[in-house]
Amino acid sequence: MPELEQALAEVAAEMAARTDRGEVATYIPQLGKVDSKKFGIAAVTNDGRVILAGDADQPFSIQSVSKVFTLTLALGKVGDALWHRVGREPSGNPFNSIVQLEHENGIPRNPFINAGAIVVSDVLLAGHQPREAIGEILRFIQFLADDETIIIDREVAASERATGYRNFALANYMKSFGNLHHEPELALGVYFHHCAIAMSCRQLAMAGRFLANGGRNPATGHSVVSAERARRIGALMLTCGHYDGSGDFAFRVGIPGKSGVGGGILGIVPGVASLAVWSPGLNENGNSKLGSIALEKLARMMNWSIF
Ligand code: DON
Repeated sequence: MPELEQALAEVAAEMAARTDRGEVATYIPQLGKVDSKKFGIAAVTNDGRVILAGDADQPFSIQSVSKVFTLTLALGKVGDALWHRVGREPSGNPFNSIVQLEHENGIPRNPFINAGAIVVSDVLLAGHQPREAIGEILRFIQFLADDETIIIDREVAASERATGYRNFALANYMKSFGNLHHEPELALGVYFHHCAIAMSCRQLAMAGRFLANGGRNPATGHSVVSAERARRIGALMLTCGHYDGSGDFAFRVGIPGKSGVGGGILGIVPGVASLAVWSPGLNENGNSKLGSIALEKLARMMNWSIF
């Protein structure tokens, strides 16, 4: 696939030249310090090629992209019982919205909006202290990426806790409906820390390999999840991975993707490759502006849409 190297380099050069880079998130103060000129992109193919361009080796805060990995772990723990506590429908609302919870018994629409991911954190807490649950999530991601250097940025976690009024509101509200089994403070401790995991595009694309390869690590052949579960996680990424911008991402890019307010996106081309892109400036839906544009261009060049 020599043309993939060229496509990545072309997209990275084009993005470097753009001045309309969106706005870096500032509601988590620590994220506001990141240089909006950064751009990185990585593709890891199922046949083992790792192709990088731009700042692909610089770690950034993966934020909501981590929700793909916590969902995978929670499904491993409780299986389909998870769906009694979290839905599988797009919310059509911003990622931190509270409105639907009132009429829907405190059951979040999907595991990728903040409320849903806080329930997933609560599931991962069962039988654990928060620090053990956080350690389990970090070790799982290190295992998927085959990279033990991945860390949690404690300053980002502390910054988010200090300003996380909306997430405290969501957690308290769900607790009042009985949909959190632990104290909100504890579930949020797990949630803030997994959002604060720092990874480079290379590491993130490596961690996503199992989703591009029917649930198996393509390098070792070891099964991480069943093929059916990998398909379902991909379906949720496609329909809910970009919040109220999910339809637009599916329309423009046509592959499952999960964004984070740190400006990262994990993209999955089933049967072909795992992709990660990072550009910190966000569009109006809180998704990476140039990251989405880069994936749109790359998917078109490579004919990667799943449709
Ligand atoms: O809870 C929050 O607001 C952040 N830790 C994560 C939000 C996020 O990444 C939404 N993504 N686009």
